[in-house]
Amino acid sequence: MNPTTSGSIPPIATPRTIDWAGDHLVAIDQTLLPDELVLVPLRTIDEVIDALRRLVVRGAPAIGVTGGLGVALAAVIARRDGHDAAWVRAEVAKLRAARPTAVNLAWGVDRVLARLDDGLDAVVSLAVAMLDEDVATNRALAVRGAEHVRSLVPDPHRVRVLTHCNAGGLACVEWGTALGIVRALHEAGDLQEVFADETRPLLQGARLTAWELSRMGVSHRVVVDGAGATVIARGLVDVVIVGADRIAADGDVANKIGTYPLALAAARAGISFVVAAPESTLDPLTASGADIHIEARDPDEVLVWRGQRLAPPASSALNLAFDVTPADLVTALVTEARVVRLADGERLNG
Ligand code: MRU
Repeated sequence: MNPTTSGSIPPIATPRTIDWAGDHLVAIDQTLLPDELVLVPLRTIDEVIDALRRLVVRGAPAIGVTGGLGVALAAVIARRDGHDAAWVRAEVAKLRAARPTAVNLAWGVDRVLARLDDGLDAVVSLAVAMLDEDVATNRALAVRGAEHVRSLVPDPHRVRVLTHCNAGGLACVEWGTALGIVRALHEAGDLQEVFADETRPLLQGARLTAWELSRMGVSHRVVVDGAGATVIARGLVDVVIVGADRIAADGDVANKIGTYPLALAAARAGISFVVAAPESTLDPLTASGADIHIEARDPDEVLVWRGQRLAPPASSALNLAFDVTPADLVTALVTEARVVRLADGERLNG
């Protein structure tokens, strides 16, 4: 029953979260899900930046590939409109700063920008190759992660998972990280149920993770963020599995705000807390979680919902988009290449 190779997992029919259409990008507009599945073209760097900032495209791996494709777009525009390499570099510098916490954005931009002197074809072909590479990476991660999760739980054939935010296909090109593991367990018949935190303020859990789980046919329940610790304390789940936006050199993990309390609750309850992320999310240049730039977003995302003000007019809000979970609370970090038992003192680099 258990998958032993990534080839045993069938493909997903959904359009890719992000794709290349010859001379521009195409993205699923995630702000419209689950109501509408709409593809939007992104034809300028400003449109790509706007899509990243508004979370039309979101999730660290998808952001990273978008960064690479954005460099290709800048190079295509420069060829068409007669701009020089300095123009491309200036456009791409703006793109690289669109969202600060997910290290994948800088990773994707820098990787493709390094090919700029090799010509347009080299730039575009590397950026386009990152699409398939992301899928292959996360399929490998999913198989490795599912195997490891089975080893952590009481009944490997009836696994109950809690997840936070959306670390699914929508957060990547096609295959998810945390939700990729969930999918691999489901395909093998080893998944009993998933609890999805709703993930205030933008509801990536209730809107996006629940949408993906529904399409997969996975039994799931959405819970308010404040319920996560109680779901864990009541013994309703065997393992917490989340994604990551940046993992510092010491193993500290930045992920969607609300992740850290789940790690605390998991430790208290004695269940495993697993982080699933590609190697591109590791940031050896950031020493520890305290050095990670945490994105602060518009207070109105907290105070207003679809035009309806929730708080009194005089109230303000603090809208930190991410938190940091210390490495010693992370039972295992799973990448496409390895499992690192951070809570046992294993290090990322040797
Ligand atoms: O603000 P978002 O929606 O981009 O935040 C996404 C997350 O925090 C995800 O958990 C993380 O990027 C991992 S996605 C595989």
